[in-house]
Amino acid sequence: MKDILTAPFMVEMIRTTTEMYRHGWDERNGGNVSLLLEEKDVAEYLDLNKVLRTEPVGFKAPELAGKYFLVTGTGKYFKNIQYAPDVNLGLLRITSDGDKAEILWGYSDGGRFTSEFPAHMMSHIARLSADSENHVVMHCHPANLLAMTYVHSLDEKAFTRTLWQMCTECIVVFPDGVNVLPWMLCGTNEIGEATAEKMNTARLVVWSQHGIYGAGKDLDETFGLIETAEKAAEIYMKIAHLPLVNTITDEQLHLLEGRFGVKARDGYLN
Ligand code: 13P
Ligand code: ZN
Repeated sequence: MKDILTAPFMVEMIRTTTEMYRHGWDERNGGNVSLLLEEKDVAEYLDLNKVLRTEPVGFKAPELAGKYFLVTGTGKYFKNIQYAPDVNLGLLRITSDGDKAEILWGYSDGGRFTSEFPAHMMSHIARLSADSENHVVMHCHPANLLAMTYVHSLDEKAFTRTLWQMCTECIVVFPDGVNVLPWMLCGTNEIGEATAEKMNTARLVVWSQHGIYGAGKDLDETFGLIETAEKAAEIYMKIAHLPLVNTITDEQLHLLEGRFGVKARDGYLN
């Protein structure tokens, strides 16, 4: 059996969460990440019959039965993941009835997966039905996106159009736009269901006055998605209080669609 700390999925998870921390997106225990793994990849590193313990998940996700995830722990600091991955991360498998998680590795101080497990698992279900290649759900608290939810309309079309206008590449990176939830109590099945519903039509979902969720095929793509939206929000927060002299017009956004072969969300451009 190979050393799991050398597994490419583990190395990439540690690098990505460390980088998220360095970007200031994950103060204290803020943020959580879940990475869907292939059974054959896990089997190279772990005895799949050796379950350390079983934890209830508080909802039913039969769609995910038998699936493996590497998930950040609740209350754990991203700052510390690189130094103690086995304490701050866990590898689990969803049971056949979809209401429990079998811990196969990690959470070695007796900890548990993130309190946002409902939003993660329900979002995986939603994104997998839109794109079978989706492997990542990522949540964090980037300052400018959060700030924007205090001063900008929360209308999804308006929010998306503002971000697209802030950097030329935005419409190329997230042509599906950004969906927005109003403030809701975090860590609940309700916010999980609402997030998953929003994930049906976009890979980015803003949680007003809290943070953002991103989904993608791998950690790099998902990180890049959030990074790009956060950069656009940063530009917005730099200019929102100044007279607007120039912008990226809808005509120019259409030119970008053609040049990069992307299609903006229906009805979002004039
Ligand atoms: P966890 O520590 O449970 O992952 O929660 C962090 C967070 O960002 C809640 O929204
Ligand atoms: Zn959060």
